[in-house]
Amino acid sequence: MKPSLKISVVCGLLLSSGAVYAEASSTDTQAPLSENMAQLIAQGKYLAAAGDCSGCHTIESGQAYGGGRAFDTPFGTLYSTNISSDKQHGIGNYSYQQFVDAVRNGVAPKGNLYPAMPYTSYHRINDHDMHALYAYFMQTKPATQPNRENGIGFPFNIRMGLKVWNLVAFDKPTFTPTADKTPLWNRGKYLVQGLGHCGECHTPRNFMMATEQDHPLEGAVVNYLNAPNITSKNLTQEHWTFNNLAQFLKTGQSPKGTAFNDMFIVEKHSLTQLNDHDITAITSYLLNQAQPSQSAVSQPKLTSLVASQFDTKLPGYRIYMDKCSGCHGQNGQGTPNVAPALQNNATIENSNIFNTVAVLNNGIERQSYSQEQTYYAMPGYKNSLNNQQMADLITYLHKRFTTQMTTTTVKQVADIKKQLATN
Ligand code: HEC
Ligand code: HEC
Ligand code: HEC
Repeated sequence: MKPSLKISVVCGLLLSSGAVYAEASSTDTQAPLSENMAQLIAQGKYLAAAGDCSGCHTIESGQAYGGGRAFDTPFGTLYSTNISSDKQHGIGNYSYQQFVDAVRNGVAPKGNLYPAMPYTSYHRINDHDMHALYAYFMQTKPATQPNRENGIGFPFNIRMGLKVWNLVAFDKPTFTPTADKTPLWNRGKYLVQGLGHCGECHTPRNFMMATEQDHPLEGAVVNYLNAPNITSKNLTQEHWTFNNLAQFLKTGQSPKGTAFNDMFIVEKHSLTQLNDHDITAITSYLLNQAQPSQSAVSQPKLTSLVASQFDTKLPGYRIYMDKCSGCHGQNGQGTPNVAPALQNNATIENSNIFNTVAVLNNGIERQSYSQEQTYYAMPGYKNSLNNQQMADLITYLHKRFTTQMTTTTVKQVADIKKQLATN
Protein backbone atom coordinates (compact mmCIF):
# COMPACT_ATOMS: atom_id res chain seq x y z
CA MET A 1 0.00 0.00 0.00
CA LYS A 2 1.34 3.46 -0.88
CA PRO A 3 1.87 5.77 2.09
CA SER A 4 -0.62 8.35 0.86
CA LEU A 5 -3.33 5.77 0.50
CA LYS A 6 -2.50 4.38 3.91
CA ILE A 7 -2.85 7.77 5.52
CA SER A 8 -6.18 8.42 3.90
CA VAL A 9 -7.55 5.06 5.03
CA VAL A 10 -6.26 5.69 8.48
CA CYS A 11 -7.62 9.21 8.65
CA GLY A 12 -10.98 7.85 7.71
CA LEU A 13 -10.79 5.50 10.64
CA LEU A 14 -9.26 8.09 12.93
CA LEU A 15 -6.71 5.68 14.12
CA SER A 16 -3.16 4.55 13.55
CA SER A 17 0.20 4.51 15.19
CA GLY A 18 1.32 7.76 16.85
CA ALA A 19 2.48 10.17 14.15
CA VAL A 20 -0.25 9.62 11.64
CA TYR A 21 -2.88 9.73 14.30
CA ALA A 22 -1.56 13.05 15.56
CA GLU A 23 -1.81 14.49 12.08
CA ALA A 24 -5.33 13.25 11.56
CA SER A 25 -6.66 14.57 14.81
CA SER A 26 -4.76 17.77 15.34
CA THR A 27 -8.01 19.71 15.25
CA ASP A 28 -9.50 17.57 17.98
CA THR A 29 -10.31 19.85 20.91
CA GLN A 30 -11.01 17.15 23.44
CA ALA A 31 -8.58 15.67 26.00
CA PRO A 32 -4.91 15.79 25.01
CA LEU A 33 -4.27 13.36 22.24
CA SER A 34 -1.42 11.49 23.83
CA GLU A 35 -3.62 10.71 26.78
CA ASN A 36 -6.36 9.31 24.53
CA MET A 37 -3.83 7.25 22.69
CA ALA A 38 -2.18 5.99 25.86
CA GLN A 39 -5.58 4.96 27.16
CA LEU A 40 -6.45 3.18 23.95
CA ILE A 41 -3.13 1.33 23.96
CA ALA A 42 -3.67 0.26 27.57
CA GLN A 43 -7.12 -1.02 26.68
CA GLY A 44 -5.65 -2.86 23.71
CA LYS A 45 -3.07 -4.52 25.91
CA TYR A 46 -5.79 -5.75 28.26
CA LEU A 47 -7.92 -6.98 25.35
CA ALA A 48 -4.92 -8.80 23.87
CA ALA A 49 -4.72 -10.68 27.18
CA ALA A 50 -8.47 -11.38 27.11
CA GLY A 51 -7.95 -12.78 23.59
CA ASP A 52 -4.92 -14.83 24.64
CA CYS A 53 -2.96 -13.51 21.65
CA SER A 54 0.35 -14.27 23.37
CA GLY A 55 -0.77 -17.82 24.27
CA CYS A 56 -0.45 -18.65 20.58
CA HIS A 57 1.91 -15.98 19.26
CA THR A 58 4.62 -16.13 21.95
CA ILE A 59 6.65 -19.25 22.69
CA GLU A 60 8.66 -19.75 25.85
CA SER A 61 12.04 -19.54 24.13
CA GLY A 62 11.04 -16.72 21.79
CA GLN A 63 10.42 -12.98 21.74
CA ALA A 64 7.06 -11.49 22.72
CA TYR A 65 4.58 -11.92 19.85
CA GLY A 66 7.37 -13.39 17.71
CA GLY A 67 5.21 -16.40 16.71
CA GLY A 68 6.49 -19.92 16.09
CA ARG A 69 4.05 -22.01 18.11
CA ALA A 70 3.38 -25.27 16.28
CA PHE A 71 -0.15 -26.49 15.59
CA ASP A 72 -0.67 -30.05 14.46
CA THR A 73 -3.41 -30.12 11.87
CA PRO A 74 -4.66 -33.17 9.99
CA PHE A 75 -2.64 -31.85 7.04
CA GLY A 76 0.68 -31.10 8.68
CA THR A 77 2.28 -28.62 11.06
CA LEU A 78 1.26 -24.98 11.02
CA TYR A 79 3.18 -22.22 12.85
CA SER A 80 1.73 -19.05 14.33
CA THR A 81 3.27 -15.93 12.86
CA ASN A 82 5.13 -12.89 14.14
CA ILE A 83 2.49 -10.28 15.06
CA SER A 84 4.81 -7.80 16.76
CA SER A 85 5.20 -4.31 15.32
CA ASP A 86 8.36 -5.36 13.44
CA LYS A 87 7.96 -4.04 9.92
CA GLN A 88 9.91 -6.84 8.25
CA HIS A 89 8.78 -9.98 10.08
CA GLY A 90 5.74 -8.76 11.97
CA ILE A 91 2.63 -6.74 11.18
CA GLY A 92 4.07 -3.24 11.71
CA ASN A 93 3.14 -2.26 8.16
CA TYR A 94 -0.48 -3.40 8.41
CA SER A 95 -3.14 -0.75 7.92
CA TYR A 96 -6.07 -0.80 10.32
CA GLN A 97 -8.21 -2.46 7.65
CA GLN A 98 -5.61 -5.17 7.00
CA PHE A 99 -5.46 -5.87 10.72
CA VAL A 100 -9.25 -6.10 10.94
CA ASP A 101 -9.39 -8.40 7.93
CA ALA A 102 -6.81 -10.73 9.49
CA VAL A 103 -8.23 -10.82 13.02
CA ARG A 104 -11.95 -10.71 12.29
CA ASN A 105 -12.17 -12.33 8.86
CA GLY A 106 -9.11 -14.56 8.62
CA VAL A 107 -7.83 -12.81 5.51
CA ALA A 108 -4.23 -11.55 5.71
CA PRO A 109 -2.33 -9.80 2.93
CA LYS A 110 -0.63 -13.11 2.12
CA GLY A 111 -3.97 -14.88 1.72
CA ASN A 112 -6.55 -16.70 3.83
CA LEU A 113 -5.46 -17.74 7.32
CA TYR A 114 -5.91 -21.24 8.68
CA PRO A 115 -8.68 -21.30 11.29
CA ALA A 116 -6.15 -22.27 13.98
CA MET A 117 -6.17 -18.48 14.24
CA PRO A 118 -9.59 -18.17 15.93
CA TYR A 119 -11.05 -15.46 13.67
CA THR A 120 -14.28 -17.46 13.65
CA SER A 121 -14.75 -16.30 17.27
CA TYR A 122 -12.94 -12.97 16.93
CA HIS A 123 -15.48 -11.96 14.32
CA ARG A 124 -17.62 -10.95 17.31
CA ILE A 125 -15.08 -8.36 18.54
CA ASN A 126 -16.65 -4.89 18.38
CA ASP A 127 -15.18 -1.87 16.56
CA HIS A 128 -14.00 -0.07 19.67
CA ASP A 129 -12.04 -3.10 20.79
CA MET A 130 -10.56 -3.61 17.32
CA HIS A 131 -9.28 -0.02 17.36
CA ALA A 132 -7.73 -0.55 20.79
CA LEU A 133 -6.07 -3.82 19.72
CA TYR A 134 -4.65 -2.15 16.62
CA ALA A 135 -3.30 0.79 18.63
CA TYR A 136 -1.60 -1.67 20.98
CA PHE A 137 -0.12 -3.98 18.34
CA MET A 138 1.31 -1.11 16.29
CA GLN A 139 3.57 -0.17 19.18
CA THR A 140 4.65 -3.51 20.70
CA LYS A 141 8.38 -4.14 20.86
CA PRO A 142 9.51 -5.29 17.38
CA ALA A 143 10.39 -9.01 17.42
CA THR A 144 13.07 -9.84 14.89
CA GLN A 145 12.13 -13.52 14.73
CA PRO A 146 11.47 -14.59 11.11
CA ASN A 147 8.35 -16.66 10.41
CA ARG A 148 8.73 -20.42 10.12
CA GLU A 149 7.91 -22.26 6.95
CA ASN A 150 4.72 -24.29 7.42
CA GLY A 151 4.93 -28.05 7.05
CA ILE A 152 1.60 -28.30 5.31
CA GLY A 153 1.71 -30.32 2.12
CA PHE A 154 -0.04 -30.03 -1.23
CA PRO A 155 -2.94 -29.44 -1.75
CA PHE A 156 -3.63 -27.96 1.66
CA ASN A 157 -0.90 -25.38 1.37
CA ILE A 158 -3.04 -23.58 -1.14
CA ARG A 159 -4.64 -20.80 0.84
CA MET A 160 -7.33 -20.54 -1.83
CA GLY A 161 -8.80 -23.74 -0.43
CA LEU A 162 -9.50 -21.90 2.79
CA LYS A 163 -11.71 -19.51 0.88
CA VAL A 164 -13.99 -22.42 0.14
CA TRP A 165 -13.89 -23.48 3.77
CA ASN A 166 -14.89 -19.97 4.81
CA LEU A 167 -17.80 -20.02 2.40
CA VAL A 168 -19.27 -23.20 3.84
CA ALA A 169 -18.09 -23.15 7.44
CA PHE A 170 -17.65 -19.51 8.53
CA ASP A 171 -20.99 -17.83 9.17
CA LYS A 172 -19.43 -14.50 10.27
CA PRO A 173 -21.17 -14.38 13.64
CA THR A 174 -21.68 -11.01 15.29
CA PHE A 175 -22.26 -10.40 18.98
CA THR A 176 -25.86 -9.82 20.04
CA PRO A 177 -26.61 -9.09 23.68
CA THR A 178 -29.47 -11.06 25.20
CA ALA A 179 -32.21 -8.54 25.97
CA ASP A 180 -33.48 -9.91 29.27
CA LYS A 181 -30.02 -10.35 30.82
CA THR A 182 -27.93 -7.93 32.85
CA PRO A 183 -25.01 -5.95 31.37
CA LEU A 184 -22.66 -8.04 33.53
CA TRP A 185 -23.99 -11.31 32.10
CA ASN A 186 -23.81 -9.91 28.56
CA ARG A 187 -20.23 -8.80 29.15
CA GLY A 188 -19.50 -12.43 30.06
CA LYS A 189 -21.21 -13.63 26.91
CA TYR A 190 -19.18 -11.19 24.80
CA LEU A 191 -15.89 -12.35 26.33
CA VAL A 192 -16.66 -16.08 26.20
CA GLN A 193 -17.97 -16.05 22.62
CA GLY A 194 -15.61 -13.42 21.21
CA LEU A 195 -12.16 -12.59 22.50
CA GLY A 196 -12.05 -15.51 24.96
CA HIS A 197 -12.83 -17.94 22.08
CA CYS A 198 -13.73 -20.61 24.66
CA GLY A 199 -15.86 -22.45 22.11
CA GLU A 200 -12.87 -23.04 19.82
CA CYS A 201 -11.92 -25.82 22.24
CA HIS A 202 -15.05 -26.45 24.30
CA THR A 203 -17.60 -26.67 21.42
CA PRO A 204 -17.75 -29.89 19.38
CA ARG A 205 -16.97 -29.69 15.64
CA ASN A 206 -18.87 -31.18 12.71
CA PHE A 207 -17.38 -33.12 9.80
CA MET A 208 -16.37 -29.81 8.17
CA MET A 209 -14.38 -28.98 11.33
CA ALA A 210 -16.71 -26.04 12.00
CA THR A 211 -17.92 -25.56 15.58
CA GLU A 212 -21.49 -26.79 16.05
CA GLN A 213 -23.41 -23.64 16.88
CA ASP A 214 -26.38 -25.58 18.25
CA HIS A 215 -24.18 -27.38 20.81
CA PRO A 216 -22.19 -24.49 22.30
CA LEU A 217 -19.64 -25.40 24.99
CA GLU A 218 -20.79 -29.02 25.21
CA GLY A 219 -17.24 -30.37 25.18
CA ALA A 220 -14.78 -31.71 22.60
CA VAL A 221 -11.50 -33.60 22.48
CA VAL A 222 -8.64 -31.28 21.53
CA ASN A 223 -4.96 -32.12 21.70
CA TYR A 224 -5.27 -35.41 23.69
CA LEU A 225 -7.66 -33.97 26.28
CA ASN A 226 -11.37 -33.38 26.55
CA ALA A 227 -12.13 -29.67 26.84
CA PRO A 228 -15.06 -30.50 29.13
CA ASN A 229 -18.70 -29.63 28.77
CA ILE A 230 -18.90 -26.20 30.46
CA THR A 231 -22.59 -25.51 29.94
CA SER A 232 -24.30 -24.27 33.10
CA LYS A 233 -26.19 -27.56 33.34
CA ASN A 234 -23.02 -29.61 33.43
CA LEU A 235 -21.05 -27.26 35.67
CA THR A 236 -23.91 -27.31 38.18
CA GLN A 237 -24.11 -31.11 38.04
CA GLU A 238 -20.41 -31.21 38.84
CA HIS A 239 -21.10 -29.00 41.89
CA TRP A 240 -19.18 -25.96 40.67
CA THR A 241 -20.24 -23.01 42.82
CA PHE A 242 -19.95 -19.39 41.74
CA ASN A 243 -16.98 -18.80 44.02
CA ASN A 244 -15.12 -21.97 43.04
CA LEU A 245 -15.54 -21.26 39.35
CA ALA A 246 -14.50 -17.61 39.68
CA GLN A 247 -11.43 -18.73 41.64
CA PHE A 248 -10.57 -21.39 39.04
CA LEU A 249 -10.83 -18.86 36.21
CA LYS A 250 -8.92 -16.15 38.05
CA THR A 251 -6.06 -18.33 39.36
CA GLY A 252 -6.10 -21.68 37.55
CA GLN A 253 -6.61 -23.40 40.90
CA SER A 254 -9.62 -24.05 43.09
CA PRO A 255 -11.10 -26.59 45.49
CA LYS A 256 -12.49 -28.26 42.35
CA GLY A 257 -9.04 -28.78 40.83
CA THR A 258 -6.38 -27.11 38.72
CA ALA A 259 -6.11 -26.05 35.08
CA PHE A 260 -3.66 -28.16 33.12
CA ASN A 261 -2.25 -28.52 29.60
CA ASP A 262 -4.14 -26.32 27.09
CA MET A 263 -6.31 -24.81 29.82
CA PHE A 264 -3.18 -23.91 31.77
CA ILE A 265 -1.98 -21.87 28.77
CA VAL A 266 -5.34 -20.09 28.62
CA GLU A 267 -5.07 -19.36 32.34
CA LYS A 268 -1.47 -18.26 32.32
CA HIS A 269 -1.60 -15.87 29.36
CA SER A 270 -5.20 -14.78 29.52
CA LEU A 271 -7.65 -15.41 32.35
CA THR A 272 -5.26 -14.68 35.23
CA GLN A 273 -4.69 -11.23 33.66
CA LEU A 274 -8.36 -10.28 33.72
CA ASN A 275 -9.87 -7.93 36.29
CA ASP A 276 -12.41 -9.11 38.85
CA HIS A 277 -15.31 -7.53 37.00
CA ASP A 278 -14.64 -9.57 33.88
CA ILE A 279 -14.05 -12.77 35.87
CA THR A 280 -17.41 -12.21 37.59
CA ALA A 281 -18.99 -11.54 34.20
CA ILE A 282 -17.64 -14.77 32.67
CA THR A 283 -18.67 -16.77 35.75
CA SER A 284 -22.18 -15.27 35.65
CA TYR A 285 -22.54 -16.18 32.00
CA LEU A 286 -21.19 -19.73 32.37
CA LEU A 287 -23.39 -20.52 35.36
CA ASN A 288 -26.29 -18.58 33.85
CA GLN A 289 -26.69 -16.58 37.03
CA ALA A 290 -27.14 -12.84 37.44
CA GLN A 291 -25.06 -12.49 40.62
CA PRO A 292 -22.70 -14.45 42.79
CA SER A 293 -25.14 -16.56 44.77
CA GLN A 294 -25.37 -15.52 48.39
CA SER A 295 -26.71 -18.80 49.71
CA ALA A 296 -24.10 -21.27 50.89
CA VAL A 297 -24.16 -23.68 47.98
CA SER A 298 -24.06 -27.19 49.26
CA GLN A 299 -21.00 -29.28 48.56
CA PRO A 300 -21.70 -32.89 47.66
CA LYS A 301 -21.71 -35.35 50.53
CA LEU A 302 -18.63 -37.51 50.41
CA THR A 303 -19.03 -41.18 51.05
CA SER A 304 -16.50 -40.76 53.81
CA LEU A 305 -13.50 -38.64 54.61
CA VAL A 306 -11.48 -41.38 56.21
CA ALA A 307 -10.88 -44.75 54.65
CA SER A 308 -13.77 -46.96 55.66
CA GLN A 309 -14.12 -50.73 55.52
CA PHE A 310 -16.01 -50.29 52.28
CA ASP A 311 -13.16 -48.32 50.70
CA THR A 312 -10.41 -50.71 51.59
CA LYS A 313 -12.30 -53.59 50.01
CA LEU A 314 -12.43 -51.89 46.62
CA PRO A 315 -9.57 -53.22 44.45
CA GLY A 316 -8.52 -49.64 43.61
CA TYR A 317 -7.79 -48.85 47.26
CA ARG A 318 -4.32 -50.48 47.29
CA ILE A 319 -3.35 -48.86 44.02
CA TYR A 320 -4.38 -45.46 45.33
CA MET A 321 -2.48 -45.93 48.57
CA ASP A 322 0.65 -47.15 46.73
CA LYS A 323 0.81 -44.76 43.84
CA CYS A 324 -1.25 -41.66 44.57
CA SER A 325 -1.59 -40.98 48.28
CA GLY A 326 2.01 -39.78 48.62
CA CYS A 327 1.14 -36.63 46.70
CA HIS A 328 -2.67 -36.37 46.81
CA GLY A 329 -2.99 -37.45 50.47
CA GLN A 330 -4.41 -40.60 52.05
CA ASN A 331 -7.82 -38.98 52.15
CA GLY A 332 -7.48 -37.15 48.86
CA GLN A 333 -7.00 -33.90 50.72
CA GLY A 334 -4.01 -32.84 48.59
CA THR A 335 -0.61 -31.51 49.71
CA PRO A 336 0.08 -27.76 49.57
CA ASN A 337 2.58 -26.86 46.81
CA VAL A 338 2.80 -30.52 45.78
CA ALA A 339 -0.54 -31.73 44.42
CA PRO A 340 -4.19 -30.63 44.44
CA ALA A 341 -6.97 -32.27 46.44
CA LEU A 342 -8.90 -35.03 44.69
CA GLN A 343 -11.95 -34.79 46.97
CA ASN A 344 -14.70 -33.17 44.86
CA ASN A 345 -12.26 -32.78 41.96
CA ALA A 346 -14.12 -31.80 38.78
CA THR A 347 -11.95 -33.92 36.49
CA ILE A 348 -12.82 -37.03 38.48
CA GLU A 349 -16.42 -35.94 39.06
CA ASN A 350 -17.01 -35.68 35.31
CA SER A 351 -19.09 -38.63 34.11
CA ASN A 352 -16.87 -38.59 31.01
CA ILE A 353 -13.69 -40.36 32.21
CA PHE A 354 -11.61 -39.23 29.22
CA ASN A 355 -9.45 -36.74 31.12
CA THR A 356 -8.95 -39.00 34.13
CA VAL A 357 -7.59 -41.71 31.84
CA ALA A 358 -5.53 -39.16 29.88
CA VAL A 359 -3.96 -37.73 33.05
CA LEU A 360 -3.22 -41.20 34.47
CA ASN A 361 -1.75 -42.29 31.17
CA ASN A 362 0.33 -39.23 30.24
CA GLY A 363 0.83 -37.40 33.51
CA ILE A 364 0.97 -33.59 33.66
CA GLU A 365 4.08 -31.49 33.02
CA ARG A 366 5.18 -29.06 35.69
CA GLN A 367 3.19 -25.87 35.27
CA SER A 368 3.94 -22.63 37.01
CA TYR A 369 2.38 -19.20 37.06
CA SER A 370 5.01 -16.61 37.69
CA GLN A 371 3.17 -15.01 40.56
CA GLU A 372 1.33 -18.04 41.89
CA GLN A 373 2.22 -21.19 43.73
CA THR A 374 3.53 -24.03 41.59
CA TYR A 375 2.77 -27.73 41.76
CA TYR A 376 5.04 -30.66 41.00
CA ALA A 377 4.72 -32.50 37.73
CA MET A 378 2.48 -35.56 37.89
CA PRO A 379 4.05 -38.79 36.58
CA GLY A 380 2.27 -40.84 33.90
CA TYR A 381 1.33 -44.47 34.56
CA LYS A 382 1.16 -45.73 30.98
CA ASN A 383 3.74 -48.43 31.73
CA SER A 384 2.98 -49.20 35.36
CA LEU A 385 -0.82 -49.60 35.44
CA ASN A 386 -2.60 -51.97 33.08
CA ASN A 387 -6.14 -51.33 31.85
CA GLN A 388 -7.71 -53.42 34.60
CA GLN A 389 -5.79 -51.57 37.29
CA MET A 390 -6.71 -48.20 35.78
CA ALA A 391 -10.38 -49.17 35.67
CA ASP A 392 -10.26 -50.31 39.31
CA LEU A 393 -8.50 -47.14 40.34
CA ILE A 394 -11.02 -44.87 38.59
CA THR A 395 -13.92 -46.77 40.16
CA TYR A 396 -12.26 -46.16 43.52
CA LEU A 397 -11.66 -42.44 42.81
CA HIS A 398 -15.31 -42.02 41.81
CA LYS A 399 -16.79 -43.78 44.81
CA ARG A 400 -14.38 -42.36 47.33
CA PHE A 401 -14.07 -38.75 46.28
CA THR A 402 -17.14 -37.81 44.23
CA THR A 403 -20.84 -38.45 43.84
CA GLN A 404 -20.22 -40.69 40.78
CA MET A 405 -21.18 -44.19 41.80
CA THR A 406 -20.52 -45.85 38.45
CA THR A 407 -18.10 -48.71 37.91
CA THR A 408 -15.49 -48.13 35.21
CA THR A 409 -14.88 -51.04 32.84
CA VAL A 410 -11.66 -52.24 31.21
CA LYS A 411 -13.23 -51.64 27.81
CA GLN A 412 -13.92 -47.98 28.60
CA VAL A 413 -10.29 -47.47 29.56
CA ALA A 414 -9.02 -49.37 26.51
CA ASP A 415 -11.21 -47.31 24.13
CA ILE A 416 -9.90 -44.03 25.50
CA LYS A 417 -6.29 -45.23 25.41
CA LYS A 418 -6.78 -46.08 21.74
CA GLN A 419 -7.94 -42.50 21.10
CA LEU A 420 -4.96 -41.14 23.04
CA ALA A 421 -2.62 -43.13 20.84
CA THR A 422 -4.15 -41.95 17.58
CA ASN A 423 -5.52 -38.49 18.42
C1 HEC B 1 -5.38 -20.41 19.15
C2 HEC B 1 -4.17 -19.75 18.65
C3 HEC B 1 -4.20 -18.30 18.27
C4 HEC B 1 -4.68 -17.24 19.03
C5 HEC B 1 -5.32 -17.29 20.40
C6 HEC B 1 -4.41 -16.05 18.25
N1 HEC B 1 -3.81 -16.37 17.08
FE1 HEC B 1 -3.32 -15.07 15.58
N2 HEC B 1 -2.70 -16.63 14.43
C7 HEC B 1 -2.61 -17.95 14.83
C8 HEC B 1 -2.01 -18.73 13.78
C9 HEC B 1 -1.74 -20.23 13.82
C10 HEC B 1 -1.76 -17.84 12.71
C11 HEC B 1 -1.15 -18.17 11.35
C12 HEC B 1 -2.22 -18.72 10.47
C13 HEC B 1 -1.76 -18.95 9.05
O1 HEC B 1 -0.59 -18.77 8.75
O2 HEC B 1 -2.61 -19.31 8.23
C14 HEC B 1 -2.20 -16.52 13.17
C15 HEC B 1 -2.13 -15.37 12.39
C16 HEC B 1 -2.43 -14.09 12.84
C17 HEC B 1 -2.33 -12.89 12.05
C18 HEC B 1 -1.88 -12.80 10.61
C19 HEC B 1 -0.44 -12.45 10.59
C20 HEC B 1 0.19 -12.55 9.24
O3 HEC B 1 1.21 -13.21 9.16
O4 HEC B 1 -0.34 -11.98 8.29
C21 HEC B 1 -2.69 -11.83 12.86
C22 HEC B 1 -2.70 -10.36 12.50
C23 HEC B 1 -3.02 -12.39 14.15
N3 HEC B 1 -2.87 -13.75 14.10
C24 HEC B 1 -3.39 -11.63 15.23
C25 HEC B 1 -3.85 -12.17 16.44
C26 HEC B 1 -4.37 -11.39 17.52
C27 HEC B 1 -4.46 -9.88 17.54
C28 HEC B 1 -4.76 -12.26 18.49
C29 HEC B 1 -5.44 -11.98 19.81
C30 HEC B 1 -6.63 -11.15 19.78
C31 HEC B 1 -4.45 -13.61 18.00
N4 HEC B 1 -3.90 -13.51 16.76
C32 HEC B 1 -4.71 -14.77 18.69
C33 HEC B 1 -3.05 -18.46 16.04
C34 HEC B 1 -3.65 -17.74 17.05
C1 HEC C 1 4.45 -36.71 42.31
C2 HEC C 1 3.17 -36.31 42.79
C3 HEC C 1 1.92 -36.95 42.21
C4 HEC C 1 1.56 -38.29 42.18
C5 HEC C 1 2.37 -39.47 42.69
C6 HEC C 1 0.25 -38.35 41.58
N1 HEC C 1 -0.17 -37.09 41.23
FE1 HEC C 1 -1.95 -36.60 40.42
N2 HEC C 1 -1.38 -34.67 40.24
C7 HEC C 1 -0.19 -34.17 40.74
C8 HEC C 1 -0.13 -32.77 40.42
C9 HEC C 1 1.02 -31.85 40.77
C10 HEC C 1 -1.31 -32.44 39.72
C11 HEC C 1 -1.74 -31.07 39.20
C12 HEC C 1 -0.84 -30.57 38.12
C13 HEC C 1 -1.15 -29.18 37.70
O1 HEC C 1 -2.32 -28.86 37.42
O2 HEC C 1 -0.23 -28.38 37.65
C14 HEC C 1 -2.07 -33.67 39.64
C15 HEC C 1 -3.31 -33.76 39.03
C16 HEC C 1 -4.09 -34.89 39.05
C17 HEC C 1 -5.41 -34.98 38.46
C18 HEC C 1 -6.11 -33.87 37.70
C19 HEC C 1 -6.91 -33.07 38.67
C20 HEC C 1 -6.63 -31.59 38.68
O3 HEC C 1 -7.58 -30.85 38.96
O4 HEC C 1 -5.51 -31.15 38.41
C21 HEC C 1 -5.88 -36.25 38.72
C22 HEC C 1 -7.22 -36.81 38.32
C23 HEC C 1 -4.84 -36.94 39.43
N3 HEC C 1 -3.77 -36.09 39.61
C24 HEC C 1 -4.93 -38.24 39.88
C25 HEC C 1 -3.84 -38.97 40.38
C26 HEC C 1 -3.88 -40.38 40.66
C27 HEC C 1 -5.13 -41.23 40.57
C28 HEC C 1 -2.63 -40.74 41.05
C29 HEC C 1 -2.12 -42.13 41.37
C30 HEC C 1 -2.14 -43.08 40.29
C31 HEC C 1 -1.81 -39.56 41.03
N4 HEC C 1 -2.57 -38.51 40.61
C32 HEC C 1 -0.48 -39.50 41.38
C33 HEC C 1 0.79 -34.86 41.40
C34 HEC C 1 0.82 -36.22 41.59
C1 HEC D 1 -7.01 -24.17 23.85
C2 HEC D 1 -8.19 -24.87 24.26
C3 HEC D 1 -9.04 -24.23 25.34
C4 HEC D 1 -9.56 -22.95 25.38
C5 HEC D 1 -9.39 -21.83 24.36
C6 HEC D 1 -10.33 -22.86 26.59
N1 HEC D 1 -10.29 -24.05 27.27
FE1 HEC D 1 -11.15 -24.43 29.08
N2 HEC D 1 -10.32 -26.28 29.08
C7 HEC D 1 -9.57 -26.84 28.08
C8 HEC D 1 -9.13 -28.17 28.47
C9 HEC D 1 -8.30 -29.12 27.62
C10 HEC D 1 -9.65 -28.40 29.76
C11 HEC D 1 -9.45 -29.67 30.61
C12 HEC D 1 -8.23 -29.53 31.49
C13 HEC D 1 -8.50 -28.81 32.77
O1 HEC D 1 -9.47 -29.15 33.48
O2 HEC D 1 -7.76 -27.87 33.07
C14 HEC D 1 -10.39 -27.19 30.12
C15 HEC D 1 -11.05 -27.01 31.33
C16 HEC D 1 -11.87 -25.93 31.64
C17 HEC D 1 -12.67 -25.81 32.83
C18 HEC D 1 -12.76 -26.84 33.94
C19 HEC D 1 -13.96 -27.65 33.69
C20 HEC D 1 -14.10 -28.88 34.51
O3 HEC D 1 -15.24 -29.29 34.71
O4 HEC D 1 -13.08 -29.45 34.92
C21 HEC D 1 -13.33 -24.61 32.76
C22 HEC D 1 -14.31 -24.05 33.77
C23 HEC D 1 -12.93 -23.97 31.53
N3 HEC D 1 -12.05 -24.80 30.86
C24 HEC D 1 -13.38 -22.74 31.10
C25 HEC D 1 -12.92 -22.10 29.96
C26 HEC D 1 -13.29 -20.74 29.59
C27 HEC D 1 -14.25 -19.86 30.33
C28 HEC D 1 -12.62 -20.46 28.43
C29 HEC D 1 -12.61 -19.18 27.64
C30 HEC D 1 -12.25 -17.98 28.36
C31 HEC D 1 -11.83 -21.63 28.09
N4 HEC D 1 -12.04 -22.60 29.03
C32 HEC D 1 -11.01 -21.71 26.98
C33 HEC D 1 -9.24 -26.23 26.88
C34 HEC D 1 -9.51 -24.91 26.54
